[in-house]
Amino acid sequence: MYNIEYDRLKELVDQHLLSFLPEIDGKSGKVREAMEYSLNCGGKRLRPVLLLSACKFCGGEERRALPFACAIEYIHTYSLIHDDLPCMDDDDLRRGHPTNHKVYGEDHALLAGDALLNSAFEVMIRDLFLYMDERRTLLCHIRALNEIAKGSGCRGMIAGQCADLESQNKQCSKEMLEYIHLNKTGALIVSAVRAGAYLACSDINTLDDLSSYAESLGLAFQITDDLLDLFGNEEDLGKRPGRDVEKQKATYPALYGVDASRQKVLQETENAVRIMESYEERGSFFVQLARALAERIS
Ligand code: IPE
Ligand code: IPE
Ligand code: MG
Ligand code: MG
Ligand code: MG
Repeated sequence: MYNIEYDRLKELVDQHLLSFLPEIDGKSGKVREAMEYSLNCGGKRLRPVLLLSACKFCGGEERRALPFACAIEYIHTYSLIHDDLPCMDDDDLRRGHPTNHKVYGEDHALLAGDALLNSAFEVMIRDLFLYMDERRTLLCHIRALNEIAKGSGCRGMIAGQCADLESQNKQCSKEMLEYIHLNKTGALIVSAVRAGAYLACSDINTLDDLSSYAESLGLAFQITDDLLDLFGNEEDLGKRPGRDVEKQKATYPALYGVDASRQKVLQETENAVRIMESYEERGSFFVQLARALAERIS
């Protein structure tokens, strides 16, 4: 049941992902192609799936949340294009294909990332115009937009990415490592569920529970990513493992060791599960999603 629902939501996102992109004239050359390349390369679509399922969980209509779901995937995809650039993690494989800059050059990869980020905001703002006569809905959609702006911005994902770069090749404190993971990865995951909840004009208690769930899920997700970089294989990951050690990245296994990192994934996963189990059957998609993500390292 969980797999069917995940695949259904992922399919919905995949079907609409390109249709929300703004029209671009041919004079701007390869940028549109470069944007589409990274969007079409694959990916789990975790953040849009979380956004749509949070919206549905809070009683909203998932179709009305689709522009925001696609927008958050644009932001995530931009973050990956930039993360892979030689000036950042310098990777040549992503989602099973050559990284954007390997195909389009660093200049176009940089601009394709910028264009995806701006397109995300254009799509969300275009959506707001639909609700000019429905004041309450409009306000909820503005709140959702605010969540995504904050989570992806210099107090969220970008802060984490900066701290990640800053901590490379150095001894990193436990506090700093948690900051990196909660921000570079956790912040956008938290934004996805909060935005989904806001799109359904959720009450504050549900919003708080979903946020705590997503915070634990996001931390477990990045520690899992760290472990998969050590033990995963290229074919399953679609990216080259072993890069964190080569780049001397601040990771959980590097600081705490493998066993303690696995324990931490389980602990954060159980935290997430406990929160959504209190909703019984209604929360089961979120419970199973958290377990399925942790199973990637079992
Ligand atoms: C990769 O994210 C970057 C991290 C935050 C670990 P995902 O593992 O969600 O990548 P895709 O979207 O499935 O390619
Ligand atoms: C990336 O973290 C987080 C963002 C892209 C914001 P990583 O650098 O660990 O992600 P991968 O391993 O390259 O996917
Ligand atoms: Mg990185
Ligand atoms: Mg990287
Ligand atoms: Mg990684």
